[in-house]
Amino acid sequence: MPQDNSQAIATESPLAKCLLVDDLEENLLALEALLVDEPAELYRARSGIAALELLLEHDFALALVDVQMPEMNGFQLAEIMRSTEKTRAIPIIFITAGEHDKRWVFRGYDAGAVDFMFKPLDSHVVRSKVRAFLELHQQKRLLEEKVEALRRTETELARALRVRDEFISIASHELRTPLTPLKLQLQMLRRAASAGFESFPRERLEKVLETSDRQVNHLSHLVDDLLDVSRISLGKVSMNTGETDLSEIVRQVVEQFEDELLNAQCHVDIQITPKLVGLWDKDRIQQIVANLLSNAIKYAAGSEIVIRTQRAGERAQLIVQDHGMGIPDERLPHIFDRFERAVPERSISGLGLGLYIARQNAALHGGDIYVQSTLHEGSTFVVTLPLRHESGAAQRETR
Ligand SMILES: Nc1ncnc2c1ncn2[C@@H]1O[C@H](COP(=O)(O)OP(=O)(O)OP(=O)(O)O)[C@@H](O)[C@H]1O
Ligand SMILES: [Mg+2]
Repeated sequence: MPQDNSQAIATESPLAKCLLVDDLEENLLALEALLVDEPAELYRARSGIAALELLLEHDFALALVDVQMPEMNGFQLAEIMRSTEKTRAIPIIFITAGEHDKRWVFRGYDAGAVDFMFKPLDSHVVRSKVRAFLELHQQKRLLEEKVEALRRTETELARALRVRDEFISIASHELRTPLTPLKLQLQMLRRAASAGFESFPRERLEKVLETSDRQVNHLSHLVDDLLDVSRISLGKVSMNTGETDLSEIVRQVVEQFEDELLNAQCHVDIQITPKLVGLWDKDRIQQIVANLLSNAIKYAAGSEIVIRTQRAGERAQLIVQDHGMGIPDERLPHIFDRFERAVPERSISGLGLGLYIARQNAALHGGDIYVQSTLHEGSTFVVTLPLRHESGAAQRETR
């Protein structure tokens, strides 16, 4: 695409605005002619009043003000500028006929923010003075930008630290949650064992083992997620691609979640396009489907969940739609980030990692994931994966 450089430069650093104030047209024309090559946008006013109107409307870097004007003279204009917040800091160069004007005292005006030029104007003096003020203005602007950037970085850093600290507290809590019932089950088994398993019916033993199994699974999922995230941040992910059927995976994952679905009273409506085969990493695709489905179960309990797979040109799409609590607009940009959650801490269990991992997994395949959500109505997550993904295909596409 052809680039409009002038536009780019103009938006990056807009020209400084310079105000010329003089009651005589020929003086204004002469000043404009002198300053035509300077990096400034020139504005002109034929009176103090006209100047004030412009001053309120624009942000000026500098004002060149003729001292001798009828009605409001240059010094009176300066007094008003000095007493107005918006115009207080604008440097002024007075243009005057006589040296005696220099004795004029500016109450409260910073030295350095005021200068004088004497008639007849020396073109060299005019240009170099104006240039010096414009450079000062430019430096001030750069400094302000740097301060602003620094302030932003600081805020981001503080936020990242806060999120990390919160995460550590949530993670420890989450890891302990399955440990408590697990300990209880073990105690029970120990007691039963010491009594030689008398009075401990087989069904009860099976139930204990089942519960323990569930807790251990839950624990290892949590630990796997944590390991995954640390691998991702260290850039140490490996891919194991092979012919993978997305629709088949959806079926398997839904089956794995049978108990959870039942407990949450969620009905799943599966609308799959059979044989949606791509060269993908099976485990990672499974992880995406599992993370989206487990979210739907957690955040949309009791509602109907629709899972659809479909072909969209050269891409496969997975859509997981629920009619649950939805996500507040202001949280939407964050939920795919590490440790970010959109529910109050500990109201519903979770580490805030599922969507981050899902997005990373999609990206590893050259695909992506996005969400549409309305608070209290529900959410729809859409994952798109290229059907023919060779290694390096992602780079080629973005070139
Ligand atoms: N289907 C959904 N409906 C409403 N909110 C959702 C849904 N899916 C995700 N969210 C919101 O996005 C946040 C991030 O989701 P993510 O899956 O990354 O983390 P989590 O579910 O909180 O924890 P984890 O998946 O690590 O156990 C959730 O905490 C939740 O607030
Ligand atoms: Mg989740």
